[in-house]
Amino acid sequence: MRVLGIESSCDETGIALYDSEKGLLAHALYSQIALHAEYGGVVPELASRDHIRKTLPLIEQVLTEANLNRSEIDAVAYTAGPGLVGALLVGAAIGRSIAWALDIPALAINHMEGHLLSPLLEAHPPAFPFVSLLVSGGHTLLVDVQGVGQYSLLGESIDDAVGEAFDKTAKMLGLSYPGGPILAALAERGIPDKYEFPRPMTNRPGLDFSFSGLKTFAMNTWRNSAQMEQDKADIALAFQTAAVETLAIKCKRALKQTGHSTIVVAGGVSANKALRTRLDAIPNARVYYPRPEFCGDNGAMIAFAGAMRQSAMVKQTVPTFSAKPRWSLNELSPP
Ligand code: KG4
Ligand code: ZN
Repeated sequence: MRVLGIESSCDETGIALYDSEKGLLAHALYSQIALHAEYGGVVPELASRDHIRKTLPLIEQVLTEANLNRSEIDAVAYTAGPGLVGALLVGAAIGRSIAWALDIPALAINHMEGHLLSPLLEAHPPAFPFVSLLVSGGHTLLVDVQGVGQYSLLGESIDDAVGEAFDKTAKMLGLSYPGGPILAALAERGIPDKYEFPRPMTNRPGLDFSFSGLKTFAMNTWRNSAQMEQDKADIALAFQTAAVETLAIKCKRALKQTGHSTIVVAGGVSANKALRTRLDAIPNARVYYPRPEFCGDNGAMIAFAGAMRQSAMVKQTVPTFSAKPRWSLNELSPP
């Protein structure tokens, strides 16, 4: 089965074609970073309008790359949530319209399930069961994964997501948008142990996270410093080290609690090199990641999740669509 995947939940338009037998046929990604940069964050209405401009041309592009006609698509998978409602509605409307016009099934995919399954696109995929650490701009989740659609939430952030904390700390330090990868690059020039930041919520039991205090800690440290370039780098490193260490402590705890020995990391922050180095050092654990280009939002993970759920694919009897700005992984069931 050849599945067309459409991702439009935030500020990236991602399109891909996945073949259940041959694997990924083609994918394309358009990032709206330049569009939102002058505002210092994603402007939802501008995001929706740009998805409208880019989705159809990118679909044509991947079809050309895969050397396929539209009639050779067997199903459409699109991100239906969680995300920005206007942006989601663009992908849902286009995805379901294409499916309706071609008389093929369509499937609403959960964005976080897309991230969760993305490391399974690689040549040596992890086997179930495993602990999934999902770290993005909107979510920080630890999930017990028994199989596709068999997810139990072990812990989540009670305030800012870890990517959001990276972005807000970067903004406070005057770095440009999007702050996470820029802060990570700056941290490479930081002096280790110049500052010691807290590891929030690691002294009490449980697997929930809290990252908003780290951001405030960074702000106070910056205000009390000489505010030179080196201070910025030192604070960036101290923030990153604390965030990474906190994630690693909770991952170890999740492995112990579930009895699993595999951690599968995904989402934008899974591109962070310090995080990878730290998680790789956890004794007796195998750690899997997506390839760097599939850490952030992309169409490949949505097409793949669609292919994993092909038994749930249904043809529409009426041409309707909807989006779910909030949609917990706990609500999903196996295909
Ligand atoms: O998964 P994603 O592309 O979009 C959401 O679904 O949120 O994640 C984006 C987040 C942003 O907060 C971005 O700053 C962060 O991932 N990010 C990073 C790195 N690359 C992306 N954070 C830390 N280090 C990185 N190298
Ligand atoms: Zn995402």
